[in-house]
Amino acid sequence: MMPQLDYSIQFNALTELLKLTQPLWQVVAFDCHDLPWQEDFPRLAERVWQIDDANLDAIDSDQTLLVGHLLSALQADLTGLGQSSQLPLLHWLTSGSDKAIFTKSNLNLSIATSELSHFSAHIKGRKWQQIVAFTEQVFSQPTIYPVLEWCAGKGHLGRLIAKTQQCQVTSLEWQQALCDDGQAFAQQWQLEQQFICADAFAAIDVTDSASPIKTKQHAVALHACGDLHVRLLDLAAKANTQAISISPCCYHLIHAKYYQPLSRLAQQAQLSLSRHDLQLPLQQSVIASKKQNALRIQEVAWRLGFDSLQRDIRKIDQYLPVPTLKQSQLSGSFSDFCHWAAKQKGLVIANHIDIESYLVIGKQRQRLTQRIDLVRHVFRSVLEQWLVLDRVCFLTEQNYHVTLSKFCPSSITPRNILIDAKKTI
Ligand SMILES: C[S@@+](CC[C@H](N)C(=O)[O-])C[C@H]1O[C@@H](n2cnc3c(N)ncnc32)[C@H](O)[C@@H]1O
Repeated sequence: MMPQLDYSIQFNALTELLKLTQPLWQVVAFDCHDLPWQEDFPRLAERVWQIDDANLDAIDSDQTLLVGHLLSALQADLTGLGQSSQLPLLHWLTSGSDKAIFTKSNLNLSIATSELSHFSAHIKGRKWQQIVAFTEQVFSQPTIYPVLEWCAGKGHLGRLIAKTQQCQVTSLEWQQALCDDGQAFAQQWQLEQQFICADAFAAIDVTDSASPIKTKQHAVALHACGDLHVRLLDLAAKANTQAISISPCCYHLIHAKYYQPLSRLAQQAQLSLSRHDLQLPLQQSVIASKKQNALRIQEVAWRLGFDSLQRDIRKIDQYLPVPTLKQSQLSGSFSDFCHWAAKQKGLVIANHIDIESYLVIGKQRQRLTQRIDLVRHVFRSVLEQWLVLDRVCFLTEQNYHVTLSKFCPSSITPRNILIDAKKTI
C-alpha cells in the first residue's frame, strides 16, 4: 500500500515523464511517412530499424523486453537533448509490472465445490476468474454496507458478492434483457440482488432517497468503460459513498473529444489527450500464431498501400477509413482488394494506375508504422498509471483513503488494476 502523498508525487513524476517524451507516444502512426521524432531521437531511430521484423511482435508483447531493448538509446537521446537530469524518471517505464503491486488474498469464498460449478455455469472462464479475484480482493474484510454494482451486465459479480457476503446487492444496468437474466439467476439462488434498469448518464440526484447511489453503501464497478466508471466516481463522491472499488477500462470511451481530467492535479498538468492517445494503454499485442501474424501484417500493408493510392487519387493527403474486410479477401489479390476498397469509398481507379507499386509502398509503411507503434508502446503502462492516478488523486481530494493494487495476474485480464477507496470523513 502506498501513502496518499506518494500517489501525488508519483502522479507528478509521470506527468513530467509523459511531457518529456510526448513526441514519442503522442503520434498517429498511419499519418506518418517517416519516424516523426527521428531528428531529436536519432539513436532510438537507429535502434528500432536494427530490430528484425520477425522479432517485433515478441518484443512488443513483453514490456520488460521492450523497454530493455530501447532504454539505452532513449537515455542517450535525452542526454543529447540536454535532459540528463530527467533520466531518473525513466525508471517509471517498468514500475507497473505485476510484481510491483499485485497482491492476492486467499479469501475462502464459502461456496461448496459442488455448488461452485453450478453457480459459475453461465459465466465464461476468464470472466469467472476475474469476478472471483475481484471479490476476494475487495471483500477480504466482510462488508458492513449494502453493495451497488455499477454497469452490471447480468450481475455475475453482484451475484457472487451477494452469495459470499450474504449482503444486499443492487445491480444497475441499462439493457433490459441483461437485467431480466440477472434477476432470474438471483431468484434461482435466492439471493438479495435487485436489478435497476437505468441509464448511468440519466440525471441522478444523490440527495434523493430514491437515488441508486447512497452514502451507506459500497459501490463496485468491474470494467465499466471510460465515462461510465468516471460517472460513478463523480456521483459516489457527491453522495459521500462510504466505499468504492473499481477496476477501470477503455479510457478512450468518452463523450468528450479530449480527456477531461478528474483531479485538480491532473487539471493543472495541462496534458491534452485525444481518444487516440487514450487507446494506448489497451494496445497490448498478444502472441498469435505465425499464420495469424502474417495475415495481420499483410492486411496492414494492404490497407496502407490502398491508403497511399486513395490519397493520390483524391489528391487529399488524409487517411480514409476502410470497412472491415473478410479474412477470405486476404487470399485474393492486392489489386482486387484495392478495387473493392475503392468501391466502398465511391472512388474509381483509372486503368493507367500501377496498383502493384502501391503494394510496395504499403509494405514499407507497414514496417514504419510497426516501429512507430513499438516506441509508443513503451509508454502504454505509464499512461495507464497516469490515468489511474488521476482517479486516485480525485478520490483523495474528495477525502477518501485510496489503495491501489492489482486484483489478478495480467494473463487473466490486462485490465487488472483495482482502485479501492474508503471515505475518511
Ligand atoms: C464491459 S461491460 C461490464 C459488465 C460487468 N461489469 C462485467 O464485468 O462483466 C459494461 C456494461 O455496462 C453496460 N452499460 C453501457 N452503457 C451503460 C449506461 N449508459 N448505463 C448503464 N449501463 C451501461 C453495458 O450494457 C454492459 O453490460
